[in-house]
Amino acid sequence: MLTFDHVHFYYKKGQPVIENMSFTIEAGEFVSIVGANGCGKSTIAKLMVGLLLPKEGSVTFKNLDTSNPADLHQIHEQIGLVFQNPEDQFITTTVMDEIVFGLENIRVPREEIRSRLDFAIQAVQMDDYLESMPHQLSGGQKQRVAIAAIVAMRPQIIIFDEATSMLDSQGRVQVVSIMQELHRQGMTIIHITHHMEEALAAERILLIHKGRLEFDGDPLVFFETMPVADYQLELPFAVRLHTIFHQGEPLTRDWKEMIRLQWSIN
Ligand SMILES: Nc1ncnc2c1ncn2[C@@H]1O[C@H](COP(=O)(O)OP(=O)(O)OP(=O)(O)O)[C@@H](O)[C@H]1O
Ligand SMILES: [Mg+2]
Repeated sequence: MLTFDHVHFYYKKGQPVIENMSFTIEAGEFVSIVGANGCGKSTIAKLMVGLLLPKEGSVTFKNLDTSNPADLHQIHEQIGLVFQNPEDQFITTTVMDEIVFGLENIRVPREEIRSRLDFAIQAVQMDDYLESMPHQLSGGQKQRVAIAAIVAMRPQIIIFDEATSMLDSQGRVQVVSIMQELHRQGMTIIHITHHMEEALAAERILLIHKGRLEFDGDPLVFFETMPVADYQLELPFAVRLHTIFHQGEPLTRDWKEMIRLQWSIN
């Protein structure tokens, strides 16, 4: 559905940032993108939504191509991007307006706006804050409002670019739970993160190393087989514990389900 086909990208000629990258993310997947600082993750997110264009190769969403200016409008409607700092996204003075503004912008009929607003604000459990000023909310609340504004647009894919990095552990759990709930409802989730506990919540991990796709597959296989420290990543706490108590035993499916349960409890 969302395809990188031999994508090359650079900001400065002669200094490649993304090299020969190919992968496809299918509808309904929950994918985590991980890798060291500066490896190219945010660049990939911007290539996905057409904020940046490949120098070679193509980025396509269904039959839409980010290099085709006529397709960009539809791509923006169907792929939402949540940034690390939610304030970058706020433009209005109340939480309600923040969500309604985006809907008016894409010409959602008046009678539909209310139901979309209700759905999105409930999804992030911020119903009590509709009249609040976005800038006066806590970091975690701001991030939830930013997510609600994107959810209300009903995109098919939401990309979270380190959307949890400013939050405390409780705030991170809340946001990852929202991702899981949206995923259960059929939305495609792409979660860029430095927190390996969060990467365990995904069904598939893409590891980026110096602009190349180094691993693409199951999180369990990833943590079992990849020397994560070589990529400036840490093993999740639960995996480290398991390794201490069950030396030499392979990580099991059951065990993985147990870890995933951690993310399915609200
Ligand atoms: N606007 C820009 N102009 C020039 N170089 C840039 C620009 N944005 C990013 N870069 C460079 O491109 C490379 C990849 O950056 P990118 O932001 O994609 O990394 P990242 O994986 O998201 O890192 P982080 O984990 O720190 O967010 C880095 O070397 C960075 O310095
Ligand atoms: Mg980044």
